[in-house]
This record gives sequence, structure tokens and C-alpha cells, in this order.
Amino acid sequence: MTEVAFIGLGVMGYPMAGHLAAGGHQVTVYNRTAEKARAWVAEHGGRSAPTPREAAQGAKIVLSCVGNDDDLRSVVLGDDGILAGLSVGDVYVDHTTASAIVARELWALGRDQGVQVIDAPVSGGQAGAENGALTVMCGGEEAPFERAKPVIDCYARASTLMGPSGAGQLTKMVNQICIAGLVQGLAEGLNFGIKAGLDMDVLIDVISKGAAQSWQMDNRAATMCQGEFEFGFAVDWMRKDLDICLTEARANGARLPVAAVVDQFYAQIQSRGGRRWDTSSLMQLLAND
Ligand SMILES: NC(=O)c1ccc[n+]([C@@H]2O[C@H](COP(=O)([O-])OP(=O)(O)OC[C@H]3O[C@@H](n4cnc5c(N)ncnc54)[C@H](OP(=O)(O)O)[C@@H]3O)[C@@H](O)[C@H]2O)c1
Repeated sequence: MTEVAFIGLGVMGYPMAGHLAAGGHQVTVYNRTAEKARAWVAEHGGRSAPTPREAAQGAKIVLSCVGNDDDLRSVVLGDDGILAGLSVGDVYVDHTTASAIVARELWALGRDQGVQVIDAPVSGGQAGAENGALTVMCGGEEAPFERAKPVIDCYARASTLMGPSGAGQLTKMVNQICIAGLVQGLAEGLNFGIKAGLDMDVLIDVISKGAAQSWQMDNRAATMCQGEFEFGFAVDWMRKDLDICLTEARANGARLPVAAVVDQFYAQIQSRGGRRWDTSSLMQLLAND
């Protein structure tokens, strides 16, 4: 059993922290909206703290999952931030999908005070968090990764050290770049099938057994055909992630022509009121144009 703290009880963080409690760890939580922290403690036990600093104090491993780079800085830095509560030898693992820039910045600040920082974005969505089946992509040093891994594995199907600080975030960027193009291709194929008058249930059953099969096809194709986009990973989050990818690509010289255009499609979806629709809503643009 380890004393741990979890910062950020959102769609992902709430069930992730729940798996830590179920795994026998002594968990202290912090959430900006205190009501969620109270609800979490009522459900899982442990205790809540009024600031990230106080949550981190006394914890050997601190984990977080907030929104974006700015949110992350606001829970880590400053007098009430996570780093202010950590001591030499502690480990801090961040699960936010953020830039490699902020990951390296926090890693360097941690190093200056003897704290080891791991960037550890996740894949697997809300269902993965609830079922304890996330894929976790980590950046940092081997020793703190090995210390944190048994804790992370309470909610992970796989957790892998990809390289030095920032490597976890860079891996997640590849994941998002792959998804962007794949979902657009799937939407175009399905929309074509509908326009061609094919039986879509039979079509999905047939082609999902061949080379076009994908997680997106298995999990989203049927609902895309029905025009249901109310679950899964939100368009607002995807645009945040693609912005991170496009910024990184400008720095490393990689060309992302498809990701860039899909980002613009998602901008259109936002302007049609679909900010909280899930990423498979690319279909909606095709179906309605
Ligand atoms: N949802 C998914 O399917 C999914 C999948 C993979 C990765 N992710 C990534 O995981 C991260 C979290 O996603 P989510 O779906 O859990 O988001 P969410 O439900 O919106 O939760 C965000 C959490 O961060 C906290 N937060 C945001 N800004 C903050 C700030 N400035 N100061 C303090 N706390 C702040 C929120 O506190 P409040 O409760 O006070 O708002 C909440 O606890 C994101 O980076 C997302 O891209 C999400």
C-alpha cells in the first residue's frame, strides 16, 4: 500500500482514482470543484484536501489528470501547487494530454527540487478509465517509472516507458494523428455506403472482418450510421490535442496534411454546436452536406 494523491476528478480522473482506492492504496484527492471531491470520498473513502499542495503533502506518489497545459500549470505551480507539497524522492505522474513542452518544463522544475516527474497521457477513453483498462504512455527516467508502475497499473492494461521526459506526450500525439485520419476515412466510407443504398449492418459485419477493421469501426461504425455522437471523446478535447500535434509538427518538420484538414472539419462541427459530441461526429458533416 502506498500513500498517493490524485488531482483532478473529471470524467477520467474520478474512476482512475477509484481504482487506486480499490487497489488498497491510501488516497487523498483534490478537485477544483470541491463537490466532486466530497462525492468521491463518500464513494471510495480516503480523504480530500483543499489545495493540490495539501493533497501532495505526505504522498509518495502524486498523480494528476486535468484539461490542458494551462490547467496543468495552475495545479502544479505556485504556493498551492503540487510541487510545493512534494519532498525530495517523491514521484509525480501527470496523465493530462498536454504538450511535450510543458512536460519537459515540469520535469526540469521537479529535478531542481529532487522530485521525479513522469508525463503519462492515456488512451482508452472513459470506458477504459472506468474498466481499469487504459493504455499509458510514459516519459521520464526508468527508476521513478518502475516505482509508479504498480500504482498506475491499478487502472492500466499497459503502461510503457517510451523515453525521456516528453516521450509520453509525443507518443500520445502519434495516437491522435492516427485517429484523426482514420475516423475521417471511416466516416467517408460509411457515408458512401449509405448513399449507395447498401445494408449498413451487413456491410459493417463484412468489412470489419477484413483489412479495413479498426477499433473505431468495431466501436463506432454502427452509431455513426445512426447519427449518434453523444458519447466518447469530445470534439473540444480532440481540437486541443490536434493543436498540440500541429504545433509540435511545426517544430520537428513532420508534415500533417490530413490531421490539419480534419482539425478544420472539427472546427466546423464546433460551430454547429457539436463541441461535446464525440470525435466520430465527422460523419455528421458528410451526412448533412
Ligand atoms: N475523456 C476522454 O475520453 C479522454 C481520453 C483520453 C485522454 N483524455 C485527456 O484526459 C484529460 C482529462 O479529461 P477528462 O475527460 O477527464 O476532462 P474533464 O471531465 O473535463 O475533467 C477535467 C478535470 O480537470 C480539472 N481542471 C480543469 N482545469 C483546471 C484548473 N485550471 N485548475 C484545477 N483543476 C482543473 C477539472 O476540475 P473541475 O471539476 O473543477 O472542472 C476536472 O477535474 C484531458 O487532457 C483529456 O484530453 C480524456
